Amino acid sequence: MLFKLCIIKFIIIFHVIYVHTENTIDYDLRDTDPSIIEDATLDTFTLIKKYGFPCEIHRVYTEDKYILEVHRVPYGKRNSTRQNRPVVFLQHGLLSSSAEFVLMRPDKGLAYLLAEAGYDVWMGNARGNTYSRHHAFLKPTSSEFWKFSWHEIGHYDVPAMIDYVIKETGVQKIQYIGFSQGTTAFWVMTSTRPEYNDKILAMHAMAPIAYVGNIRSPVIRAVAPFTNSLERILKLIGANEILPNGMINKLAGEKLCLEEALTQVLCKNLLFLFCGFNAEQLNTTMLPVVLGHTPAGASTRQFIHFGQMYKSKKFAFFDQGWFRNKWNYGTFKPPSYNISAIRTPIFLHYADNDWLSTPKDVDKFFKEAKTVVGKYRVPLDKFNHLDFVFANDAKKLIYDRIIRIMSQFI
Ligand SMILES: *[C@@H]1O[C@H](CO)[C@@H](O)[C@H](O)[C@H]1NC(C)=O
Ligand SMILES: *[C@@H]1O[C@H](CO)[C@@H](O)[C@H](O)[C@H]1NC(C)=O
Repeated sequence: MLFKLCIIKFIIIFHVIYVHTENTIDYDLRDTDPSIIEDATLDTFTLIKKYGFPCEIHRVYTEDKYILEVHRVPYGKRNSTRQNRPVVFLQHGLLSSSAEFVLMRPDKGLAYLLAEAGYDVWMGNARGNTYSRHHAFLKPTSSEFWKFSWHEIGHYDVPAMIDYVIKETGVQKIQYIGFSQGTTAFWVMTSTRPEYNDKILAMHAMAPIAYVGNIRSPVIRAVAPFTNSLERILKLIGANEILPNGMINKLAGEKLCLEEALTQVLCKNLLFLFCGFNAEQLNTTMLPVVLGHTPAGASTRQFIHFGQMYKSKKFAFFDQGWFRNKWNYGTFKPPSYNISAIRTPIFLHYADNDWLSTPKDVDKFFKEAKTVVGKYRVPLDKFNHLDFVFANDAKKLIYDRIIRIMSQFI
C-alpha cells in the first residue's frame, strides 16, 4: 500500500518537473500591481463590487441539506435596465467556483459580458467549494460531508439552484452555460431527472465532459490506472478533500510560492499540469488572481469518479464495488447515464488542444445525444481547457458566439 502511494507521489513529482521544464512560467510578485494582489484575495462578491457591478449573494438548500452560495449579477453597468431580463445560469468546472467567470475583469469575464448583453446572471457553487462548505448538520471536517462526487452535484445541487433561480426571478425557463464539470453535472441532471429538461431553454457547453476515455493530461493518464488503490489510500489517510482553497491561494495572494524549489514549481504549475498550458492565450499578469481562487476544493470522489470512467470508457454512475452496486443500482457494474434522455437543445463548444475535453470524446457524446443543435470548434489550434475561462481572446473566440446563439432563445 505504502509502496503504491510512493509510486503515485513519484509520478506526480516527475510530471511536475516534466511540465515545468517544458513550459516555465516565471513571474515575480514584487513588481506586481497591488490591484492584482487584491483581486487574488477578494471573494467573488467583493470582486464584482470592486469593478462597479451589482452583486447579490443567495443561499440555496439542497434536498440532502447542503447549503450552497449562489452569486447573482442582476444587471450590468452600462446596460442597467432591471425589468424583463432573460436569465442565465453559469456552472463552474472542477476545483473551481463562481469566481471563474469574473476573474478576468469586466472586459473579459463571461459574467460581466452577459450582464452587459442584457442578462440576469446567476452563478452556482457546487458543494465542497470555497463558498459551499456548509450543511444543515455535517461539518466539512467530517468525512461524511465529503461523500459525494459530481453525480450529487448534478442530481441535487444544480436542480436546487435552478429551482431557486426560477422561483426568485419568476421566469419559466432559463439558459444554462456550463464549463467542464459544469457540463457533466448538467448531463447528470437532465438524464436522471428528465423534468429538468423542461426548465432549460438551451444548454451552452464549454469544454463538454461526459466521456473521458481519451484524456491527454499526463498526470491523469499516469494516476488513473491506480484509481481503486488511490481511493483506498485516500480513505486510509483520511483525505476527503483535494486541494481546498486556502493553502495555495494564500501563497498566491501573499508570498505566492515558497522558496524551496519543488514547492515553488508545484504551486506555479499546478493547474497547467492537469489541464495543459497555452502561453499565447494566458495573461501571466493575471496568474496570481487565477491561483488566488483556484483550486477551490473538491471531494476526492469527484476525481475517483472521473478516474473510473477513464478506465471503463463509459459515462457511468459511481462504481461502489460489485456488492454495493448490486444493492444500490441492481447491477454488478454501475449503470451508464442515459444520454438519449436529455431533451434540451444543446450547443457544444470544444477545442482541439483540450487535454480533458478531447475532440474524440466530445464526438462520442455528440453522436449519442439526440438534441445537439450545434457543435463548434474554437478556431485556434492551441486553445486548451482553461482557455475557455481565462484566455485573452476568449471573448472573440467563443463568448461572442455563445451570446449570439443565446439571443435566438429570447
Ligand atoms: C494582462 O492583464 C493586465 C492586468 O489586467 C492588463 O493590463 C493587460 O492589458 C493584459 N494583457 C493582455 C495581453 O490582455
Ligand atoms: C433512455 O431514455 C430514453 C428516452 O427517455 C428511453 O426511451 C430509454 O428507454 C432509456 N433507456 C434506458 C436504458 O433507460
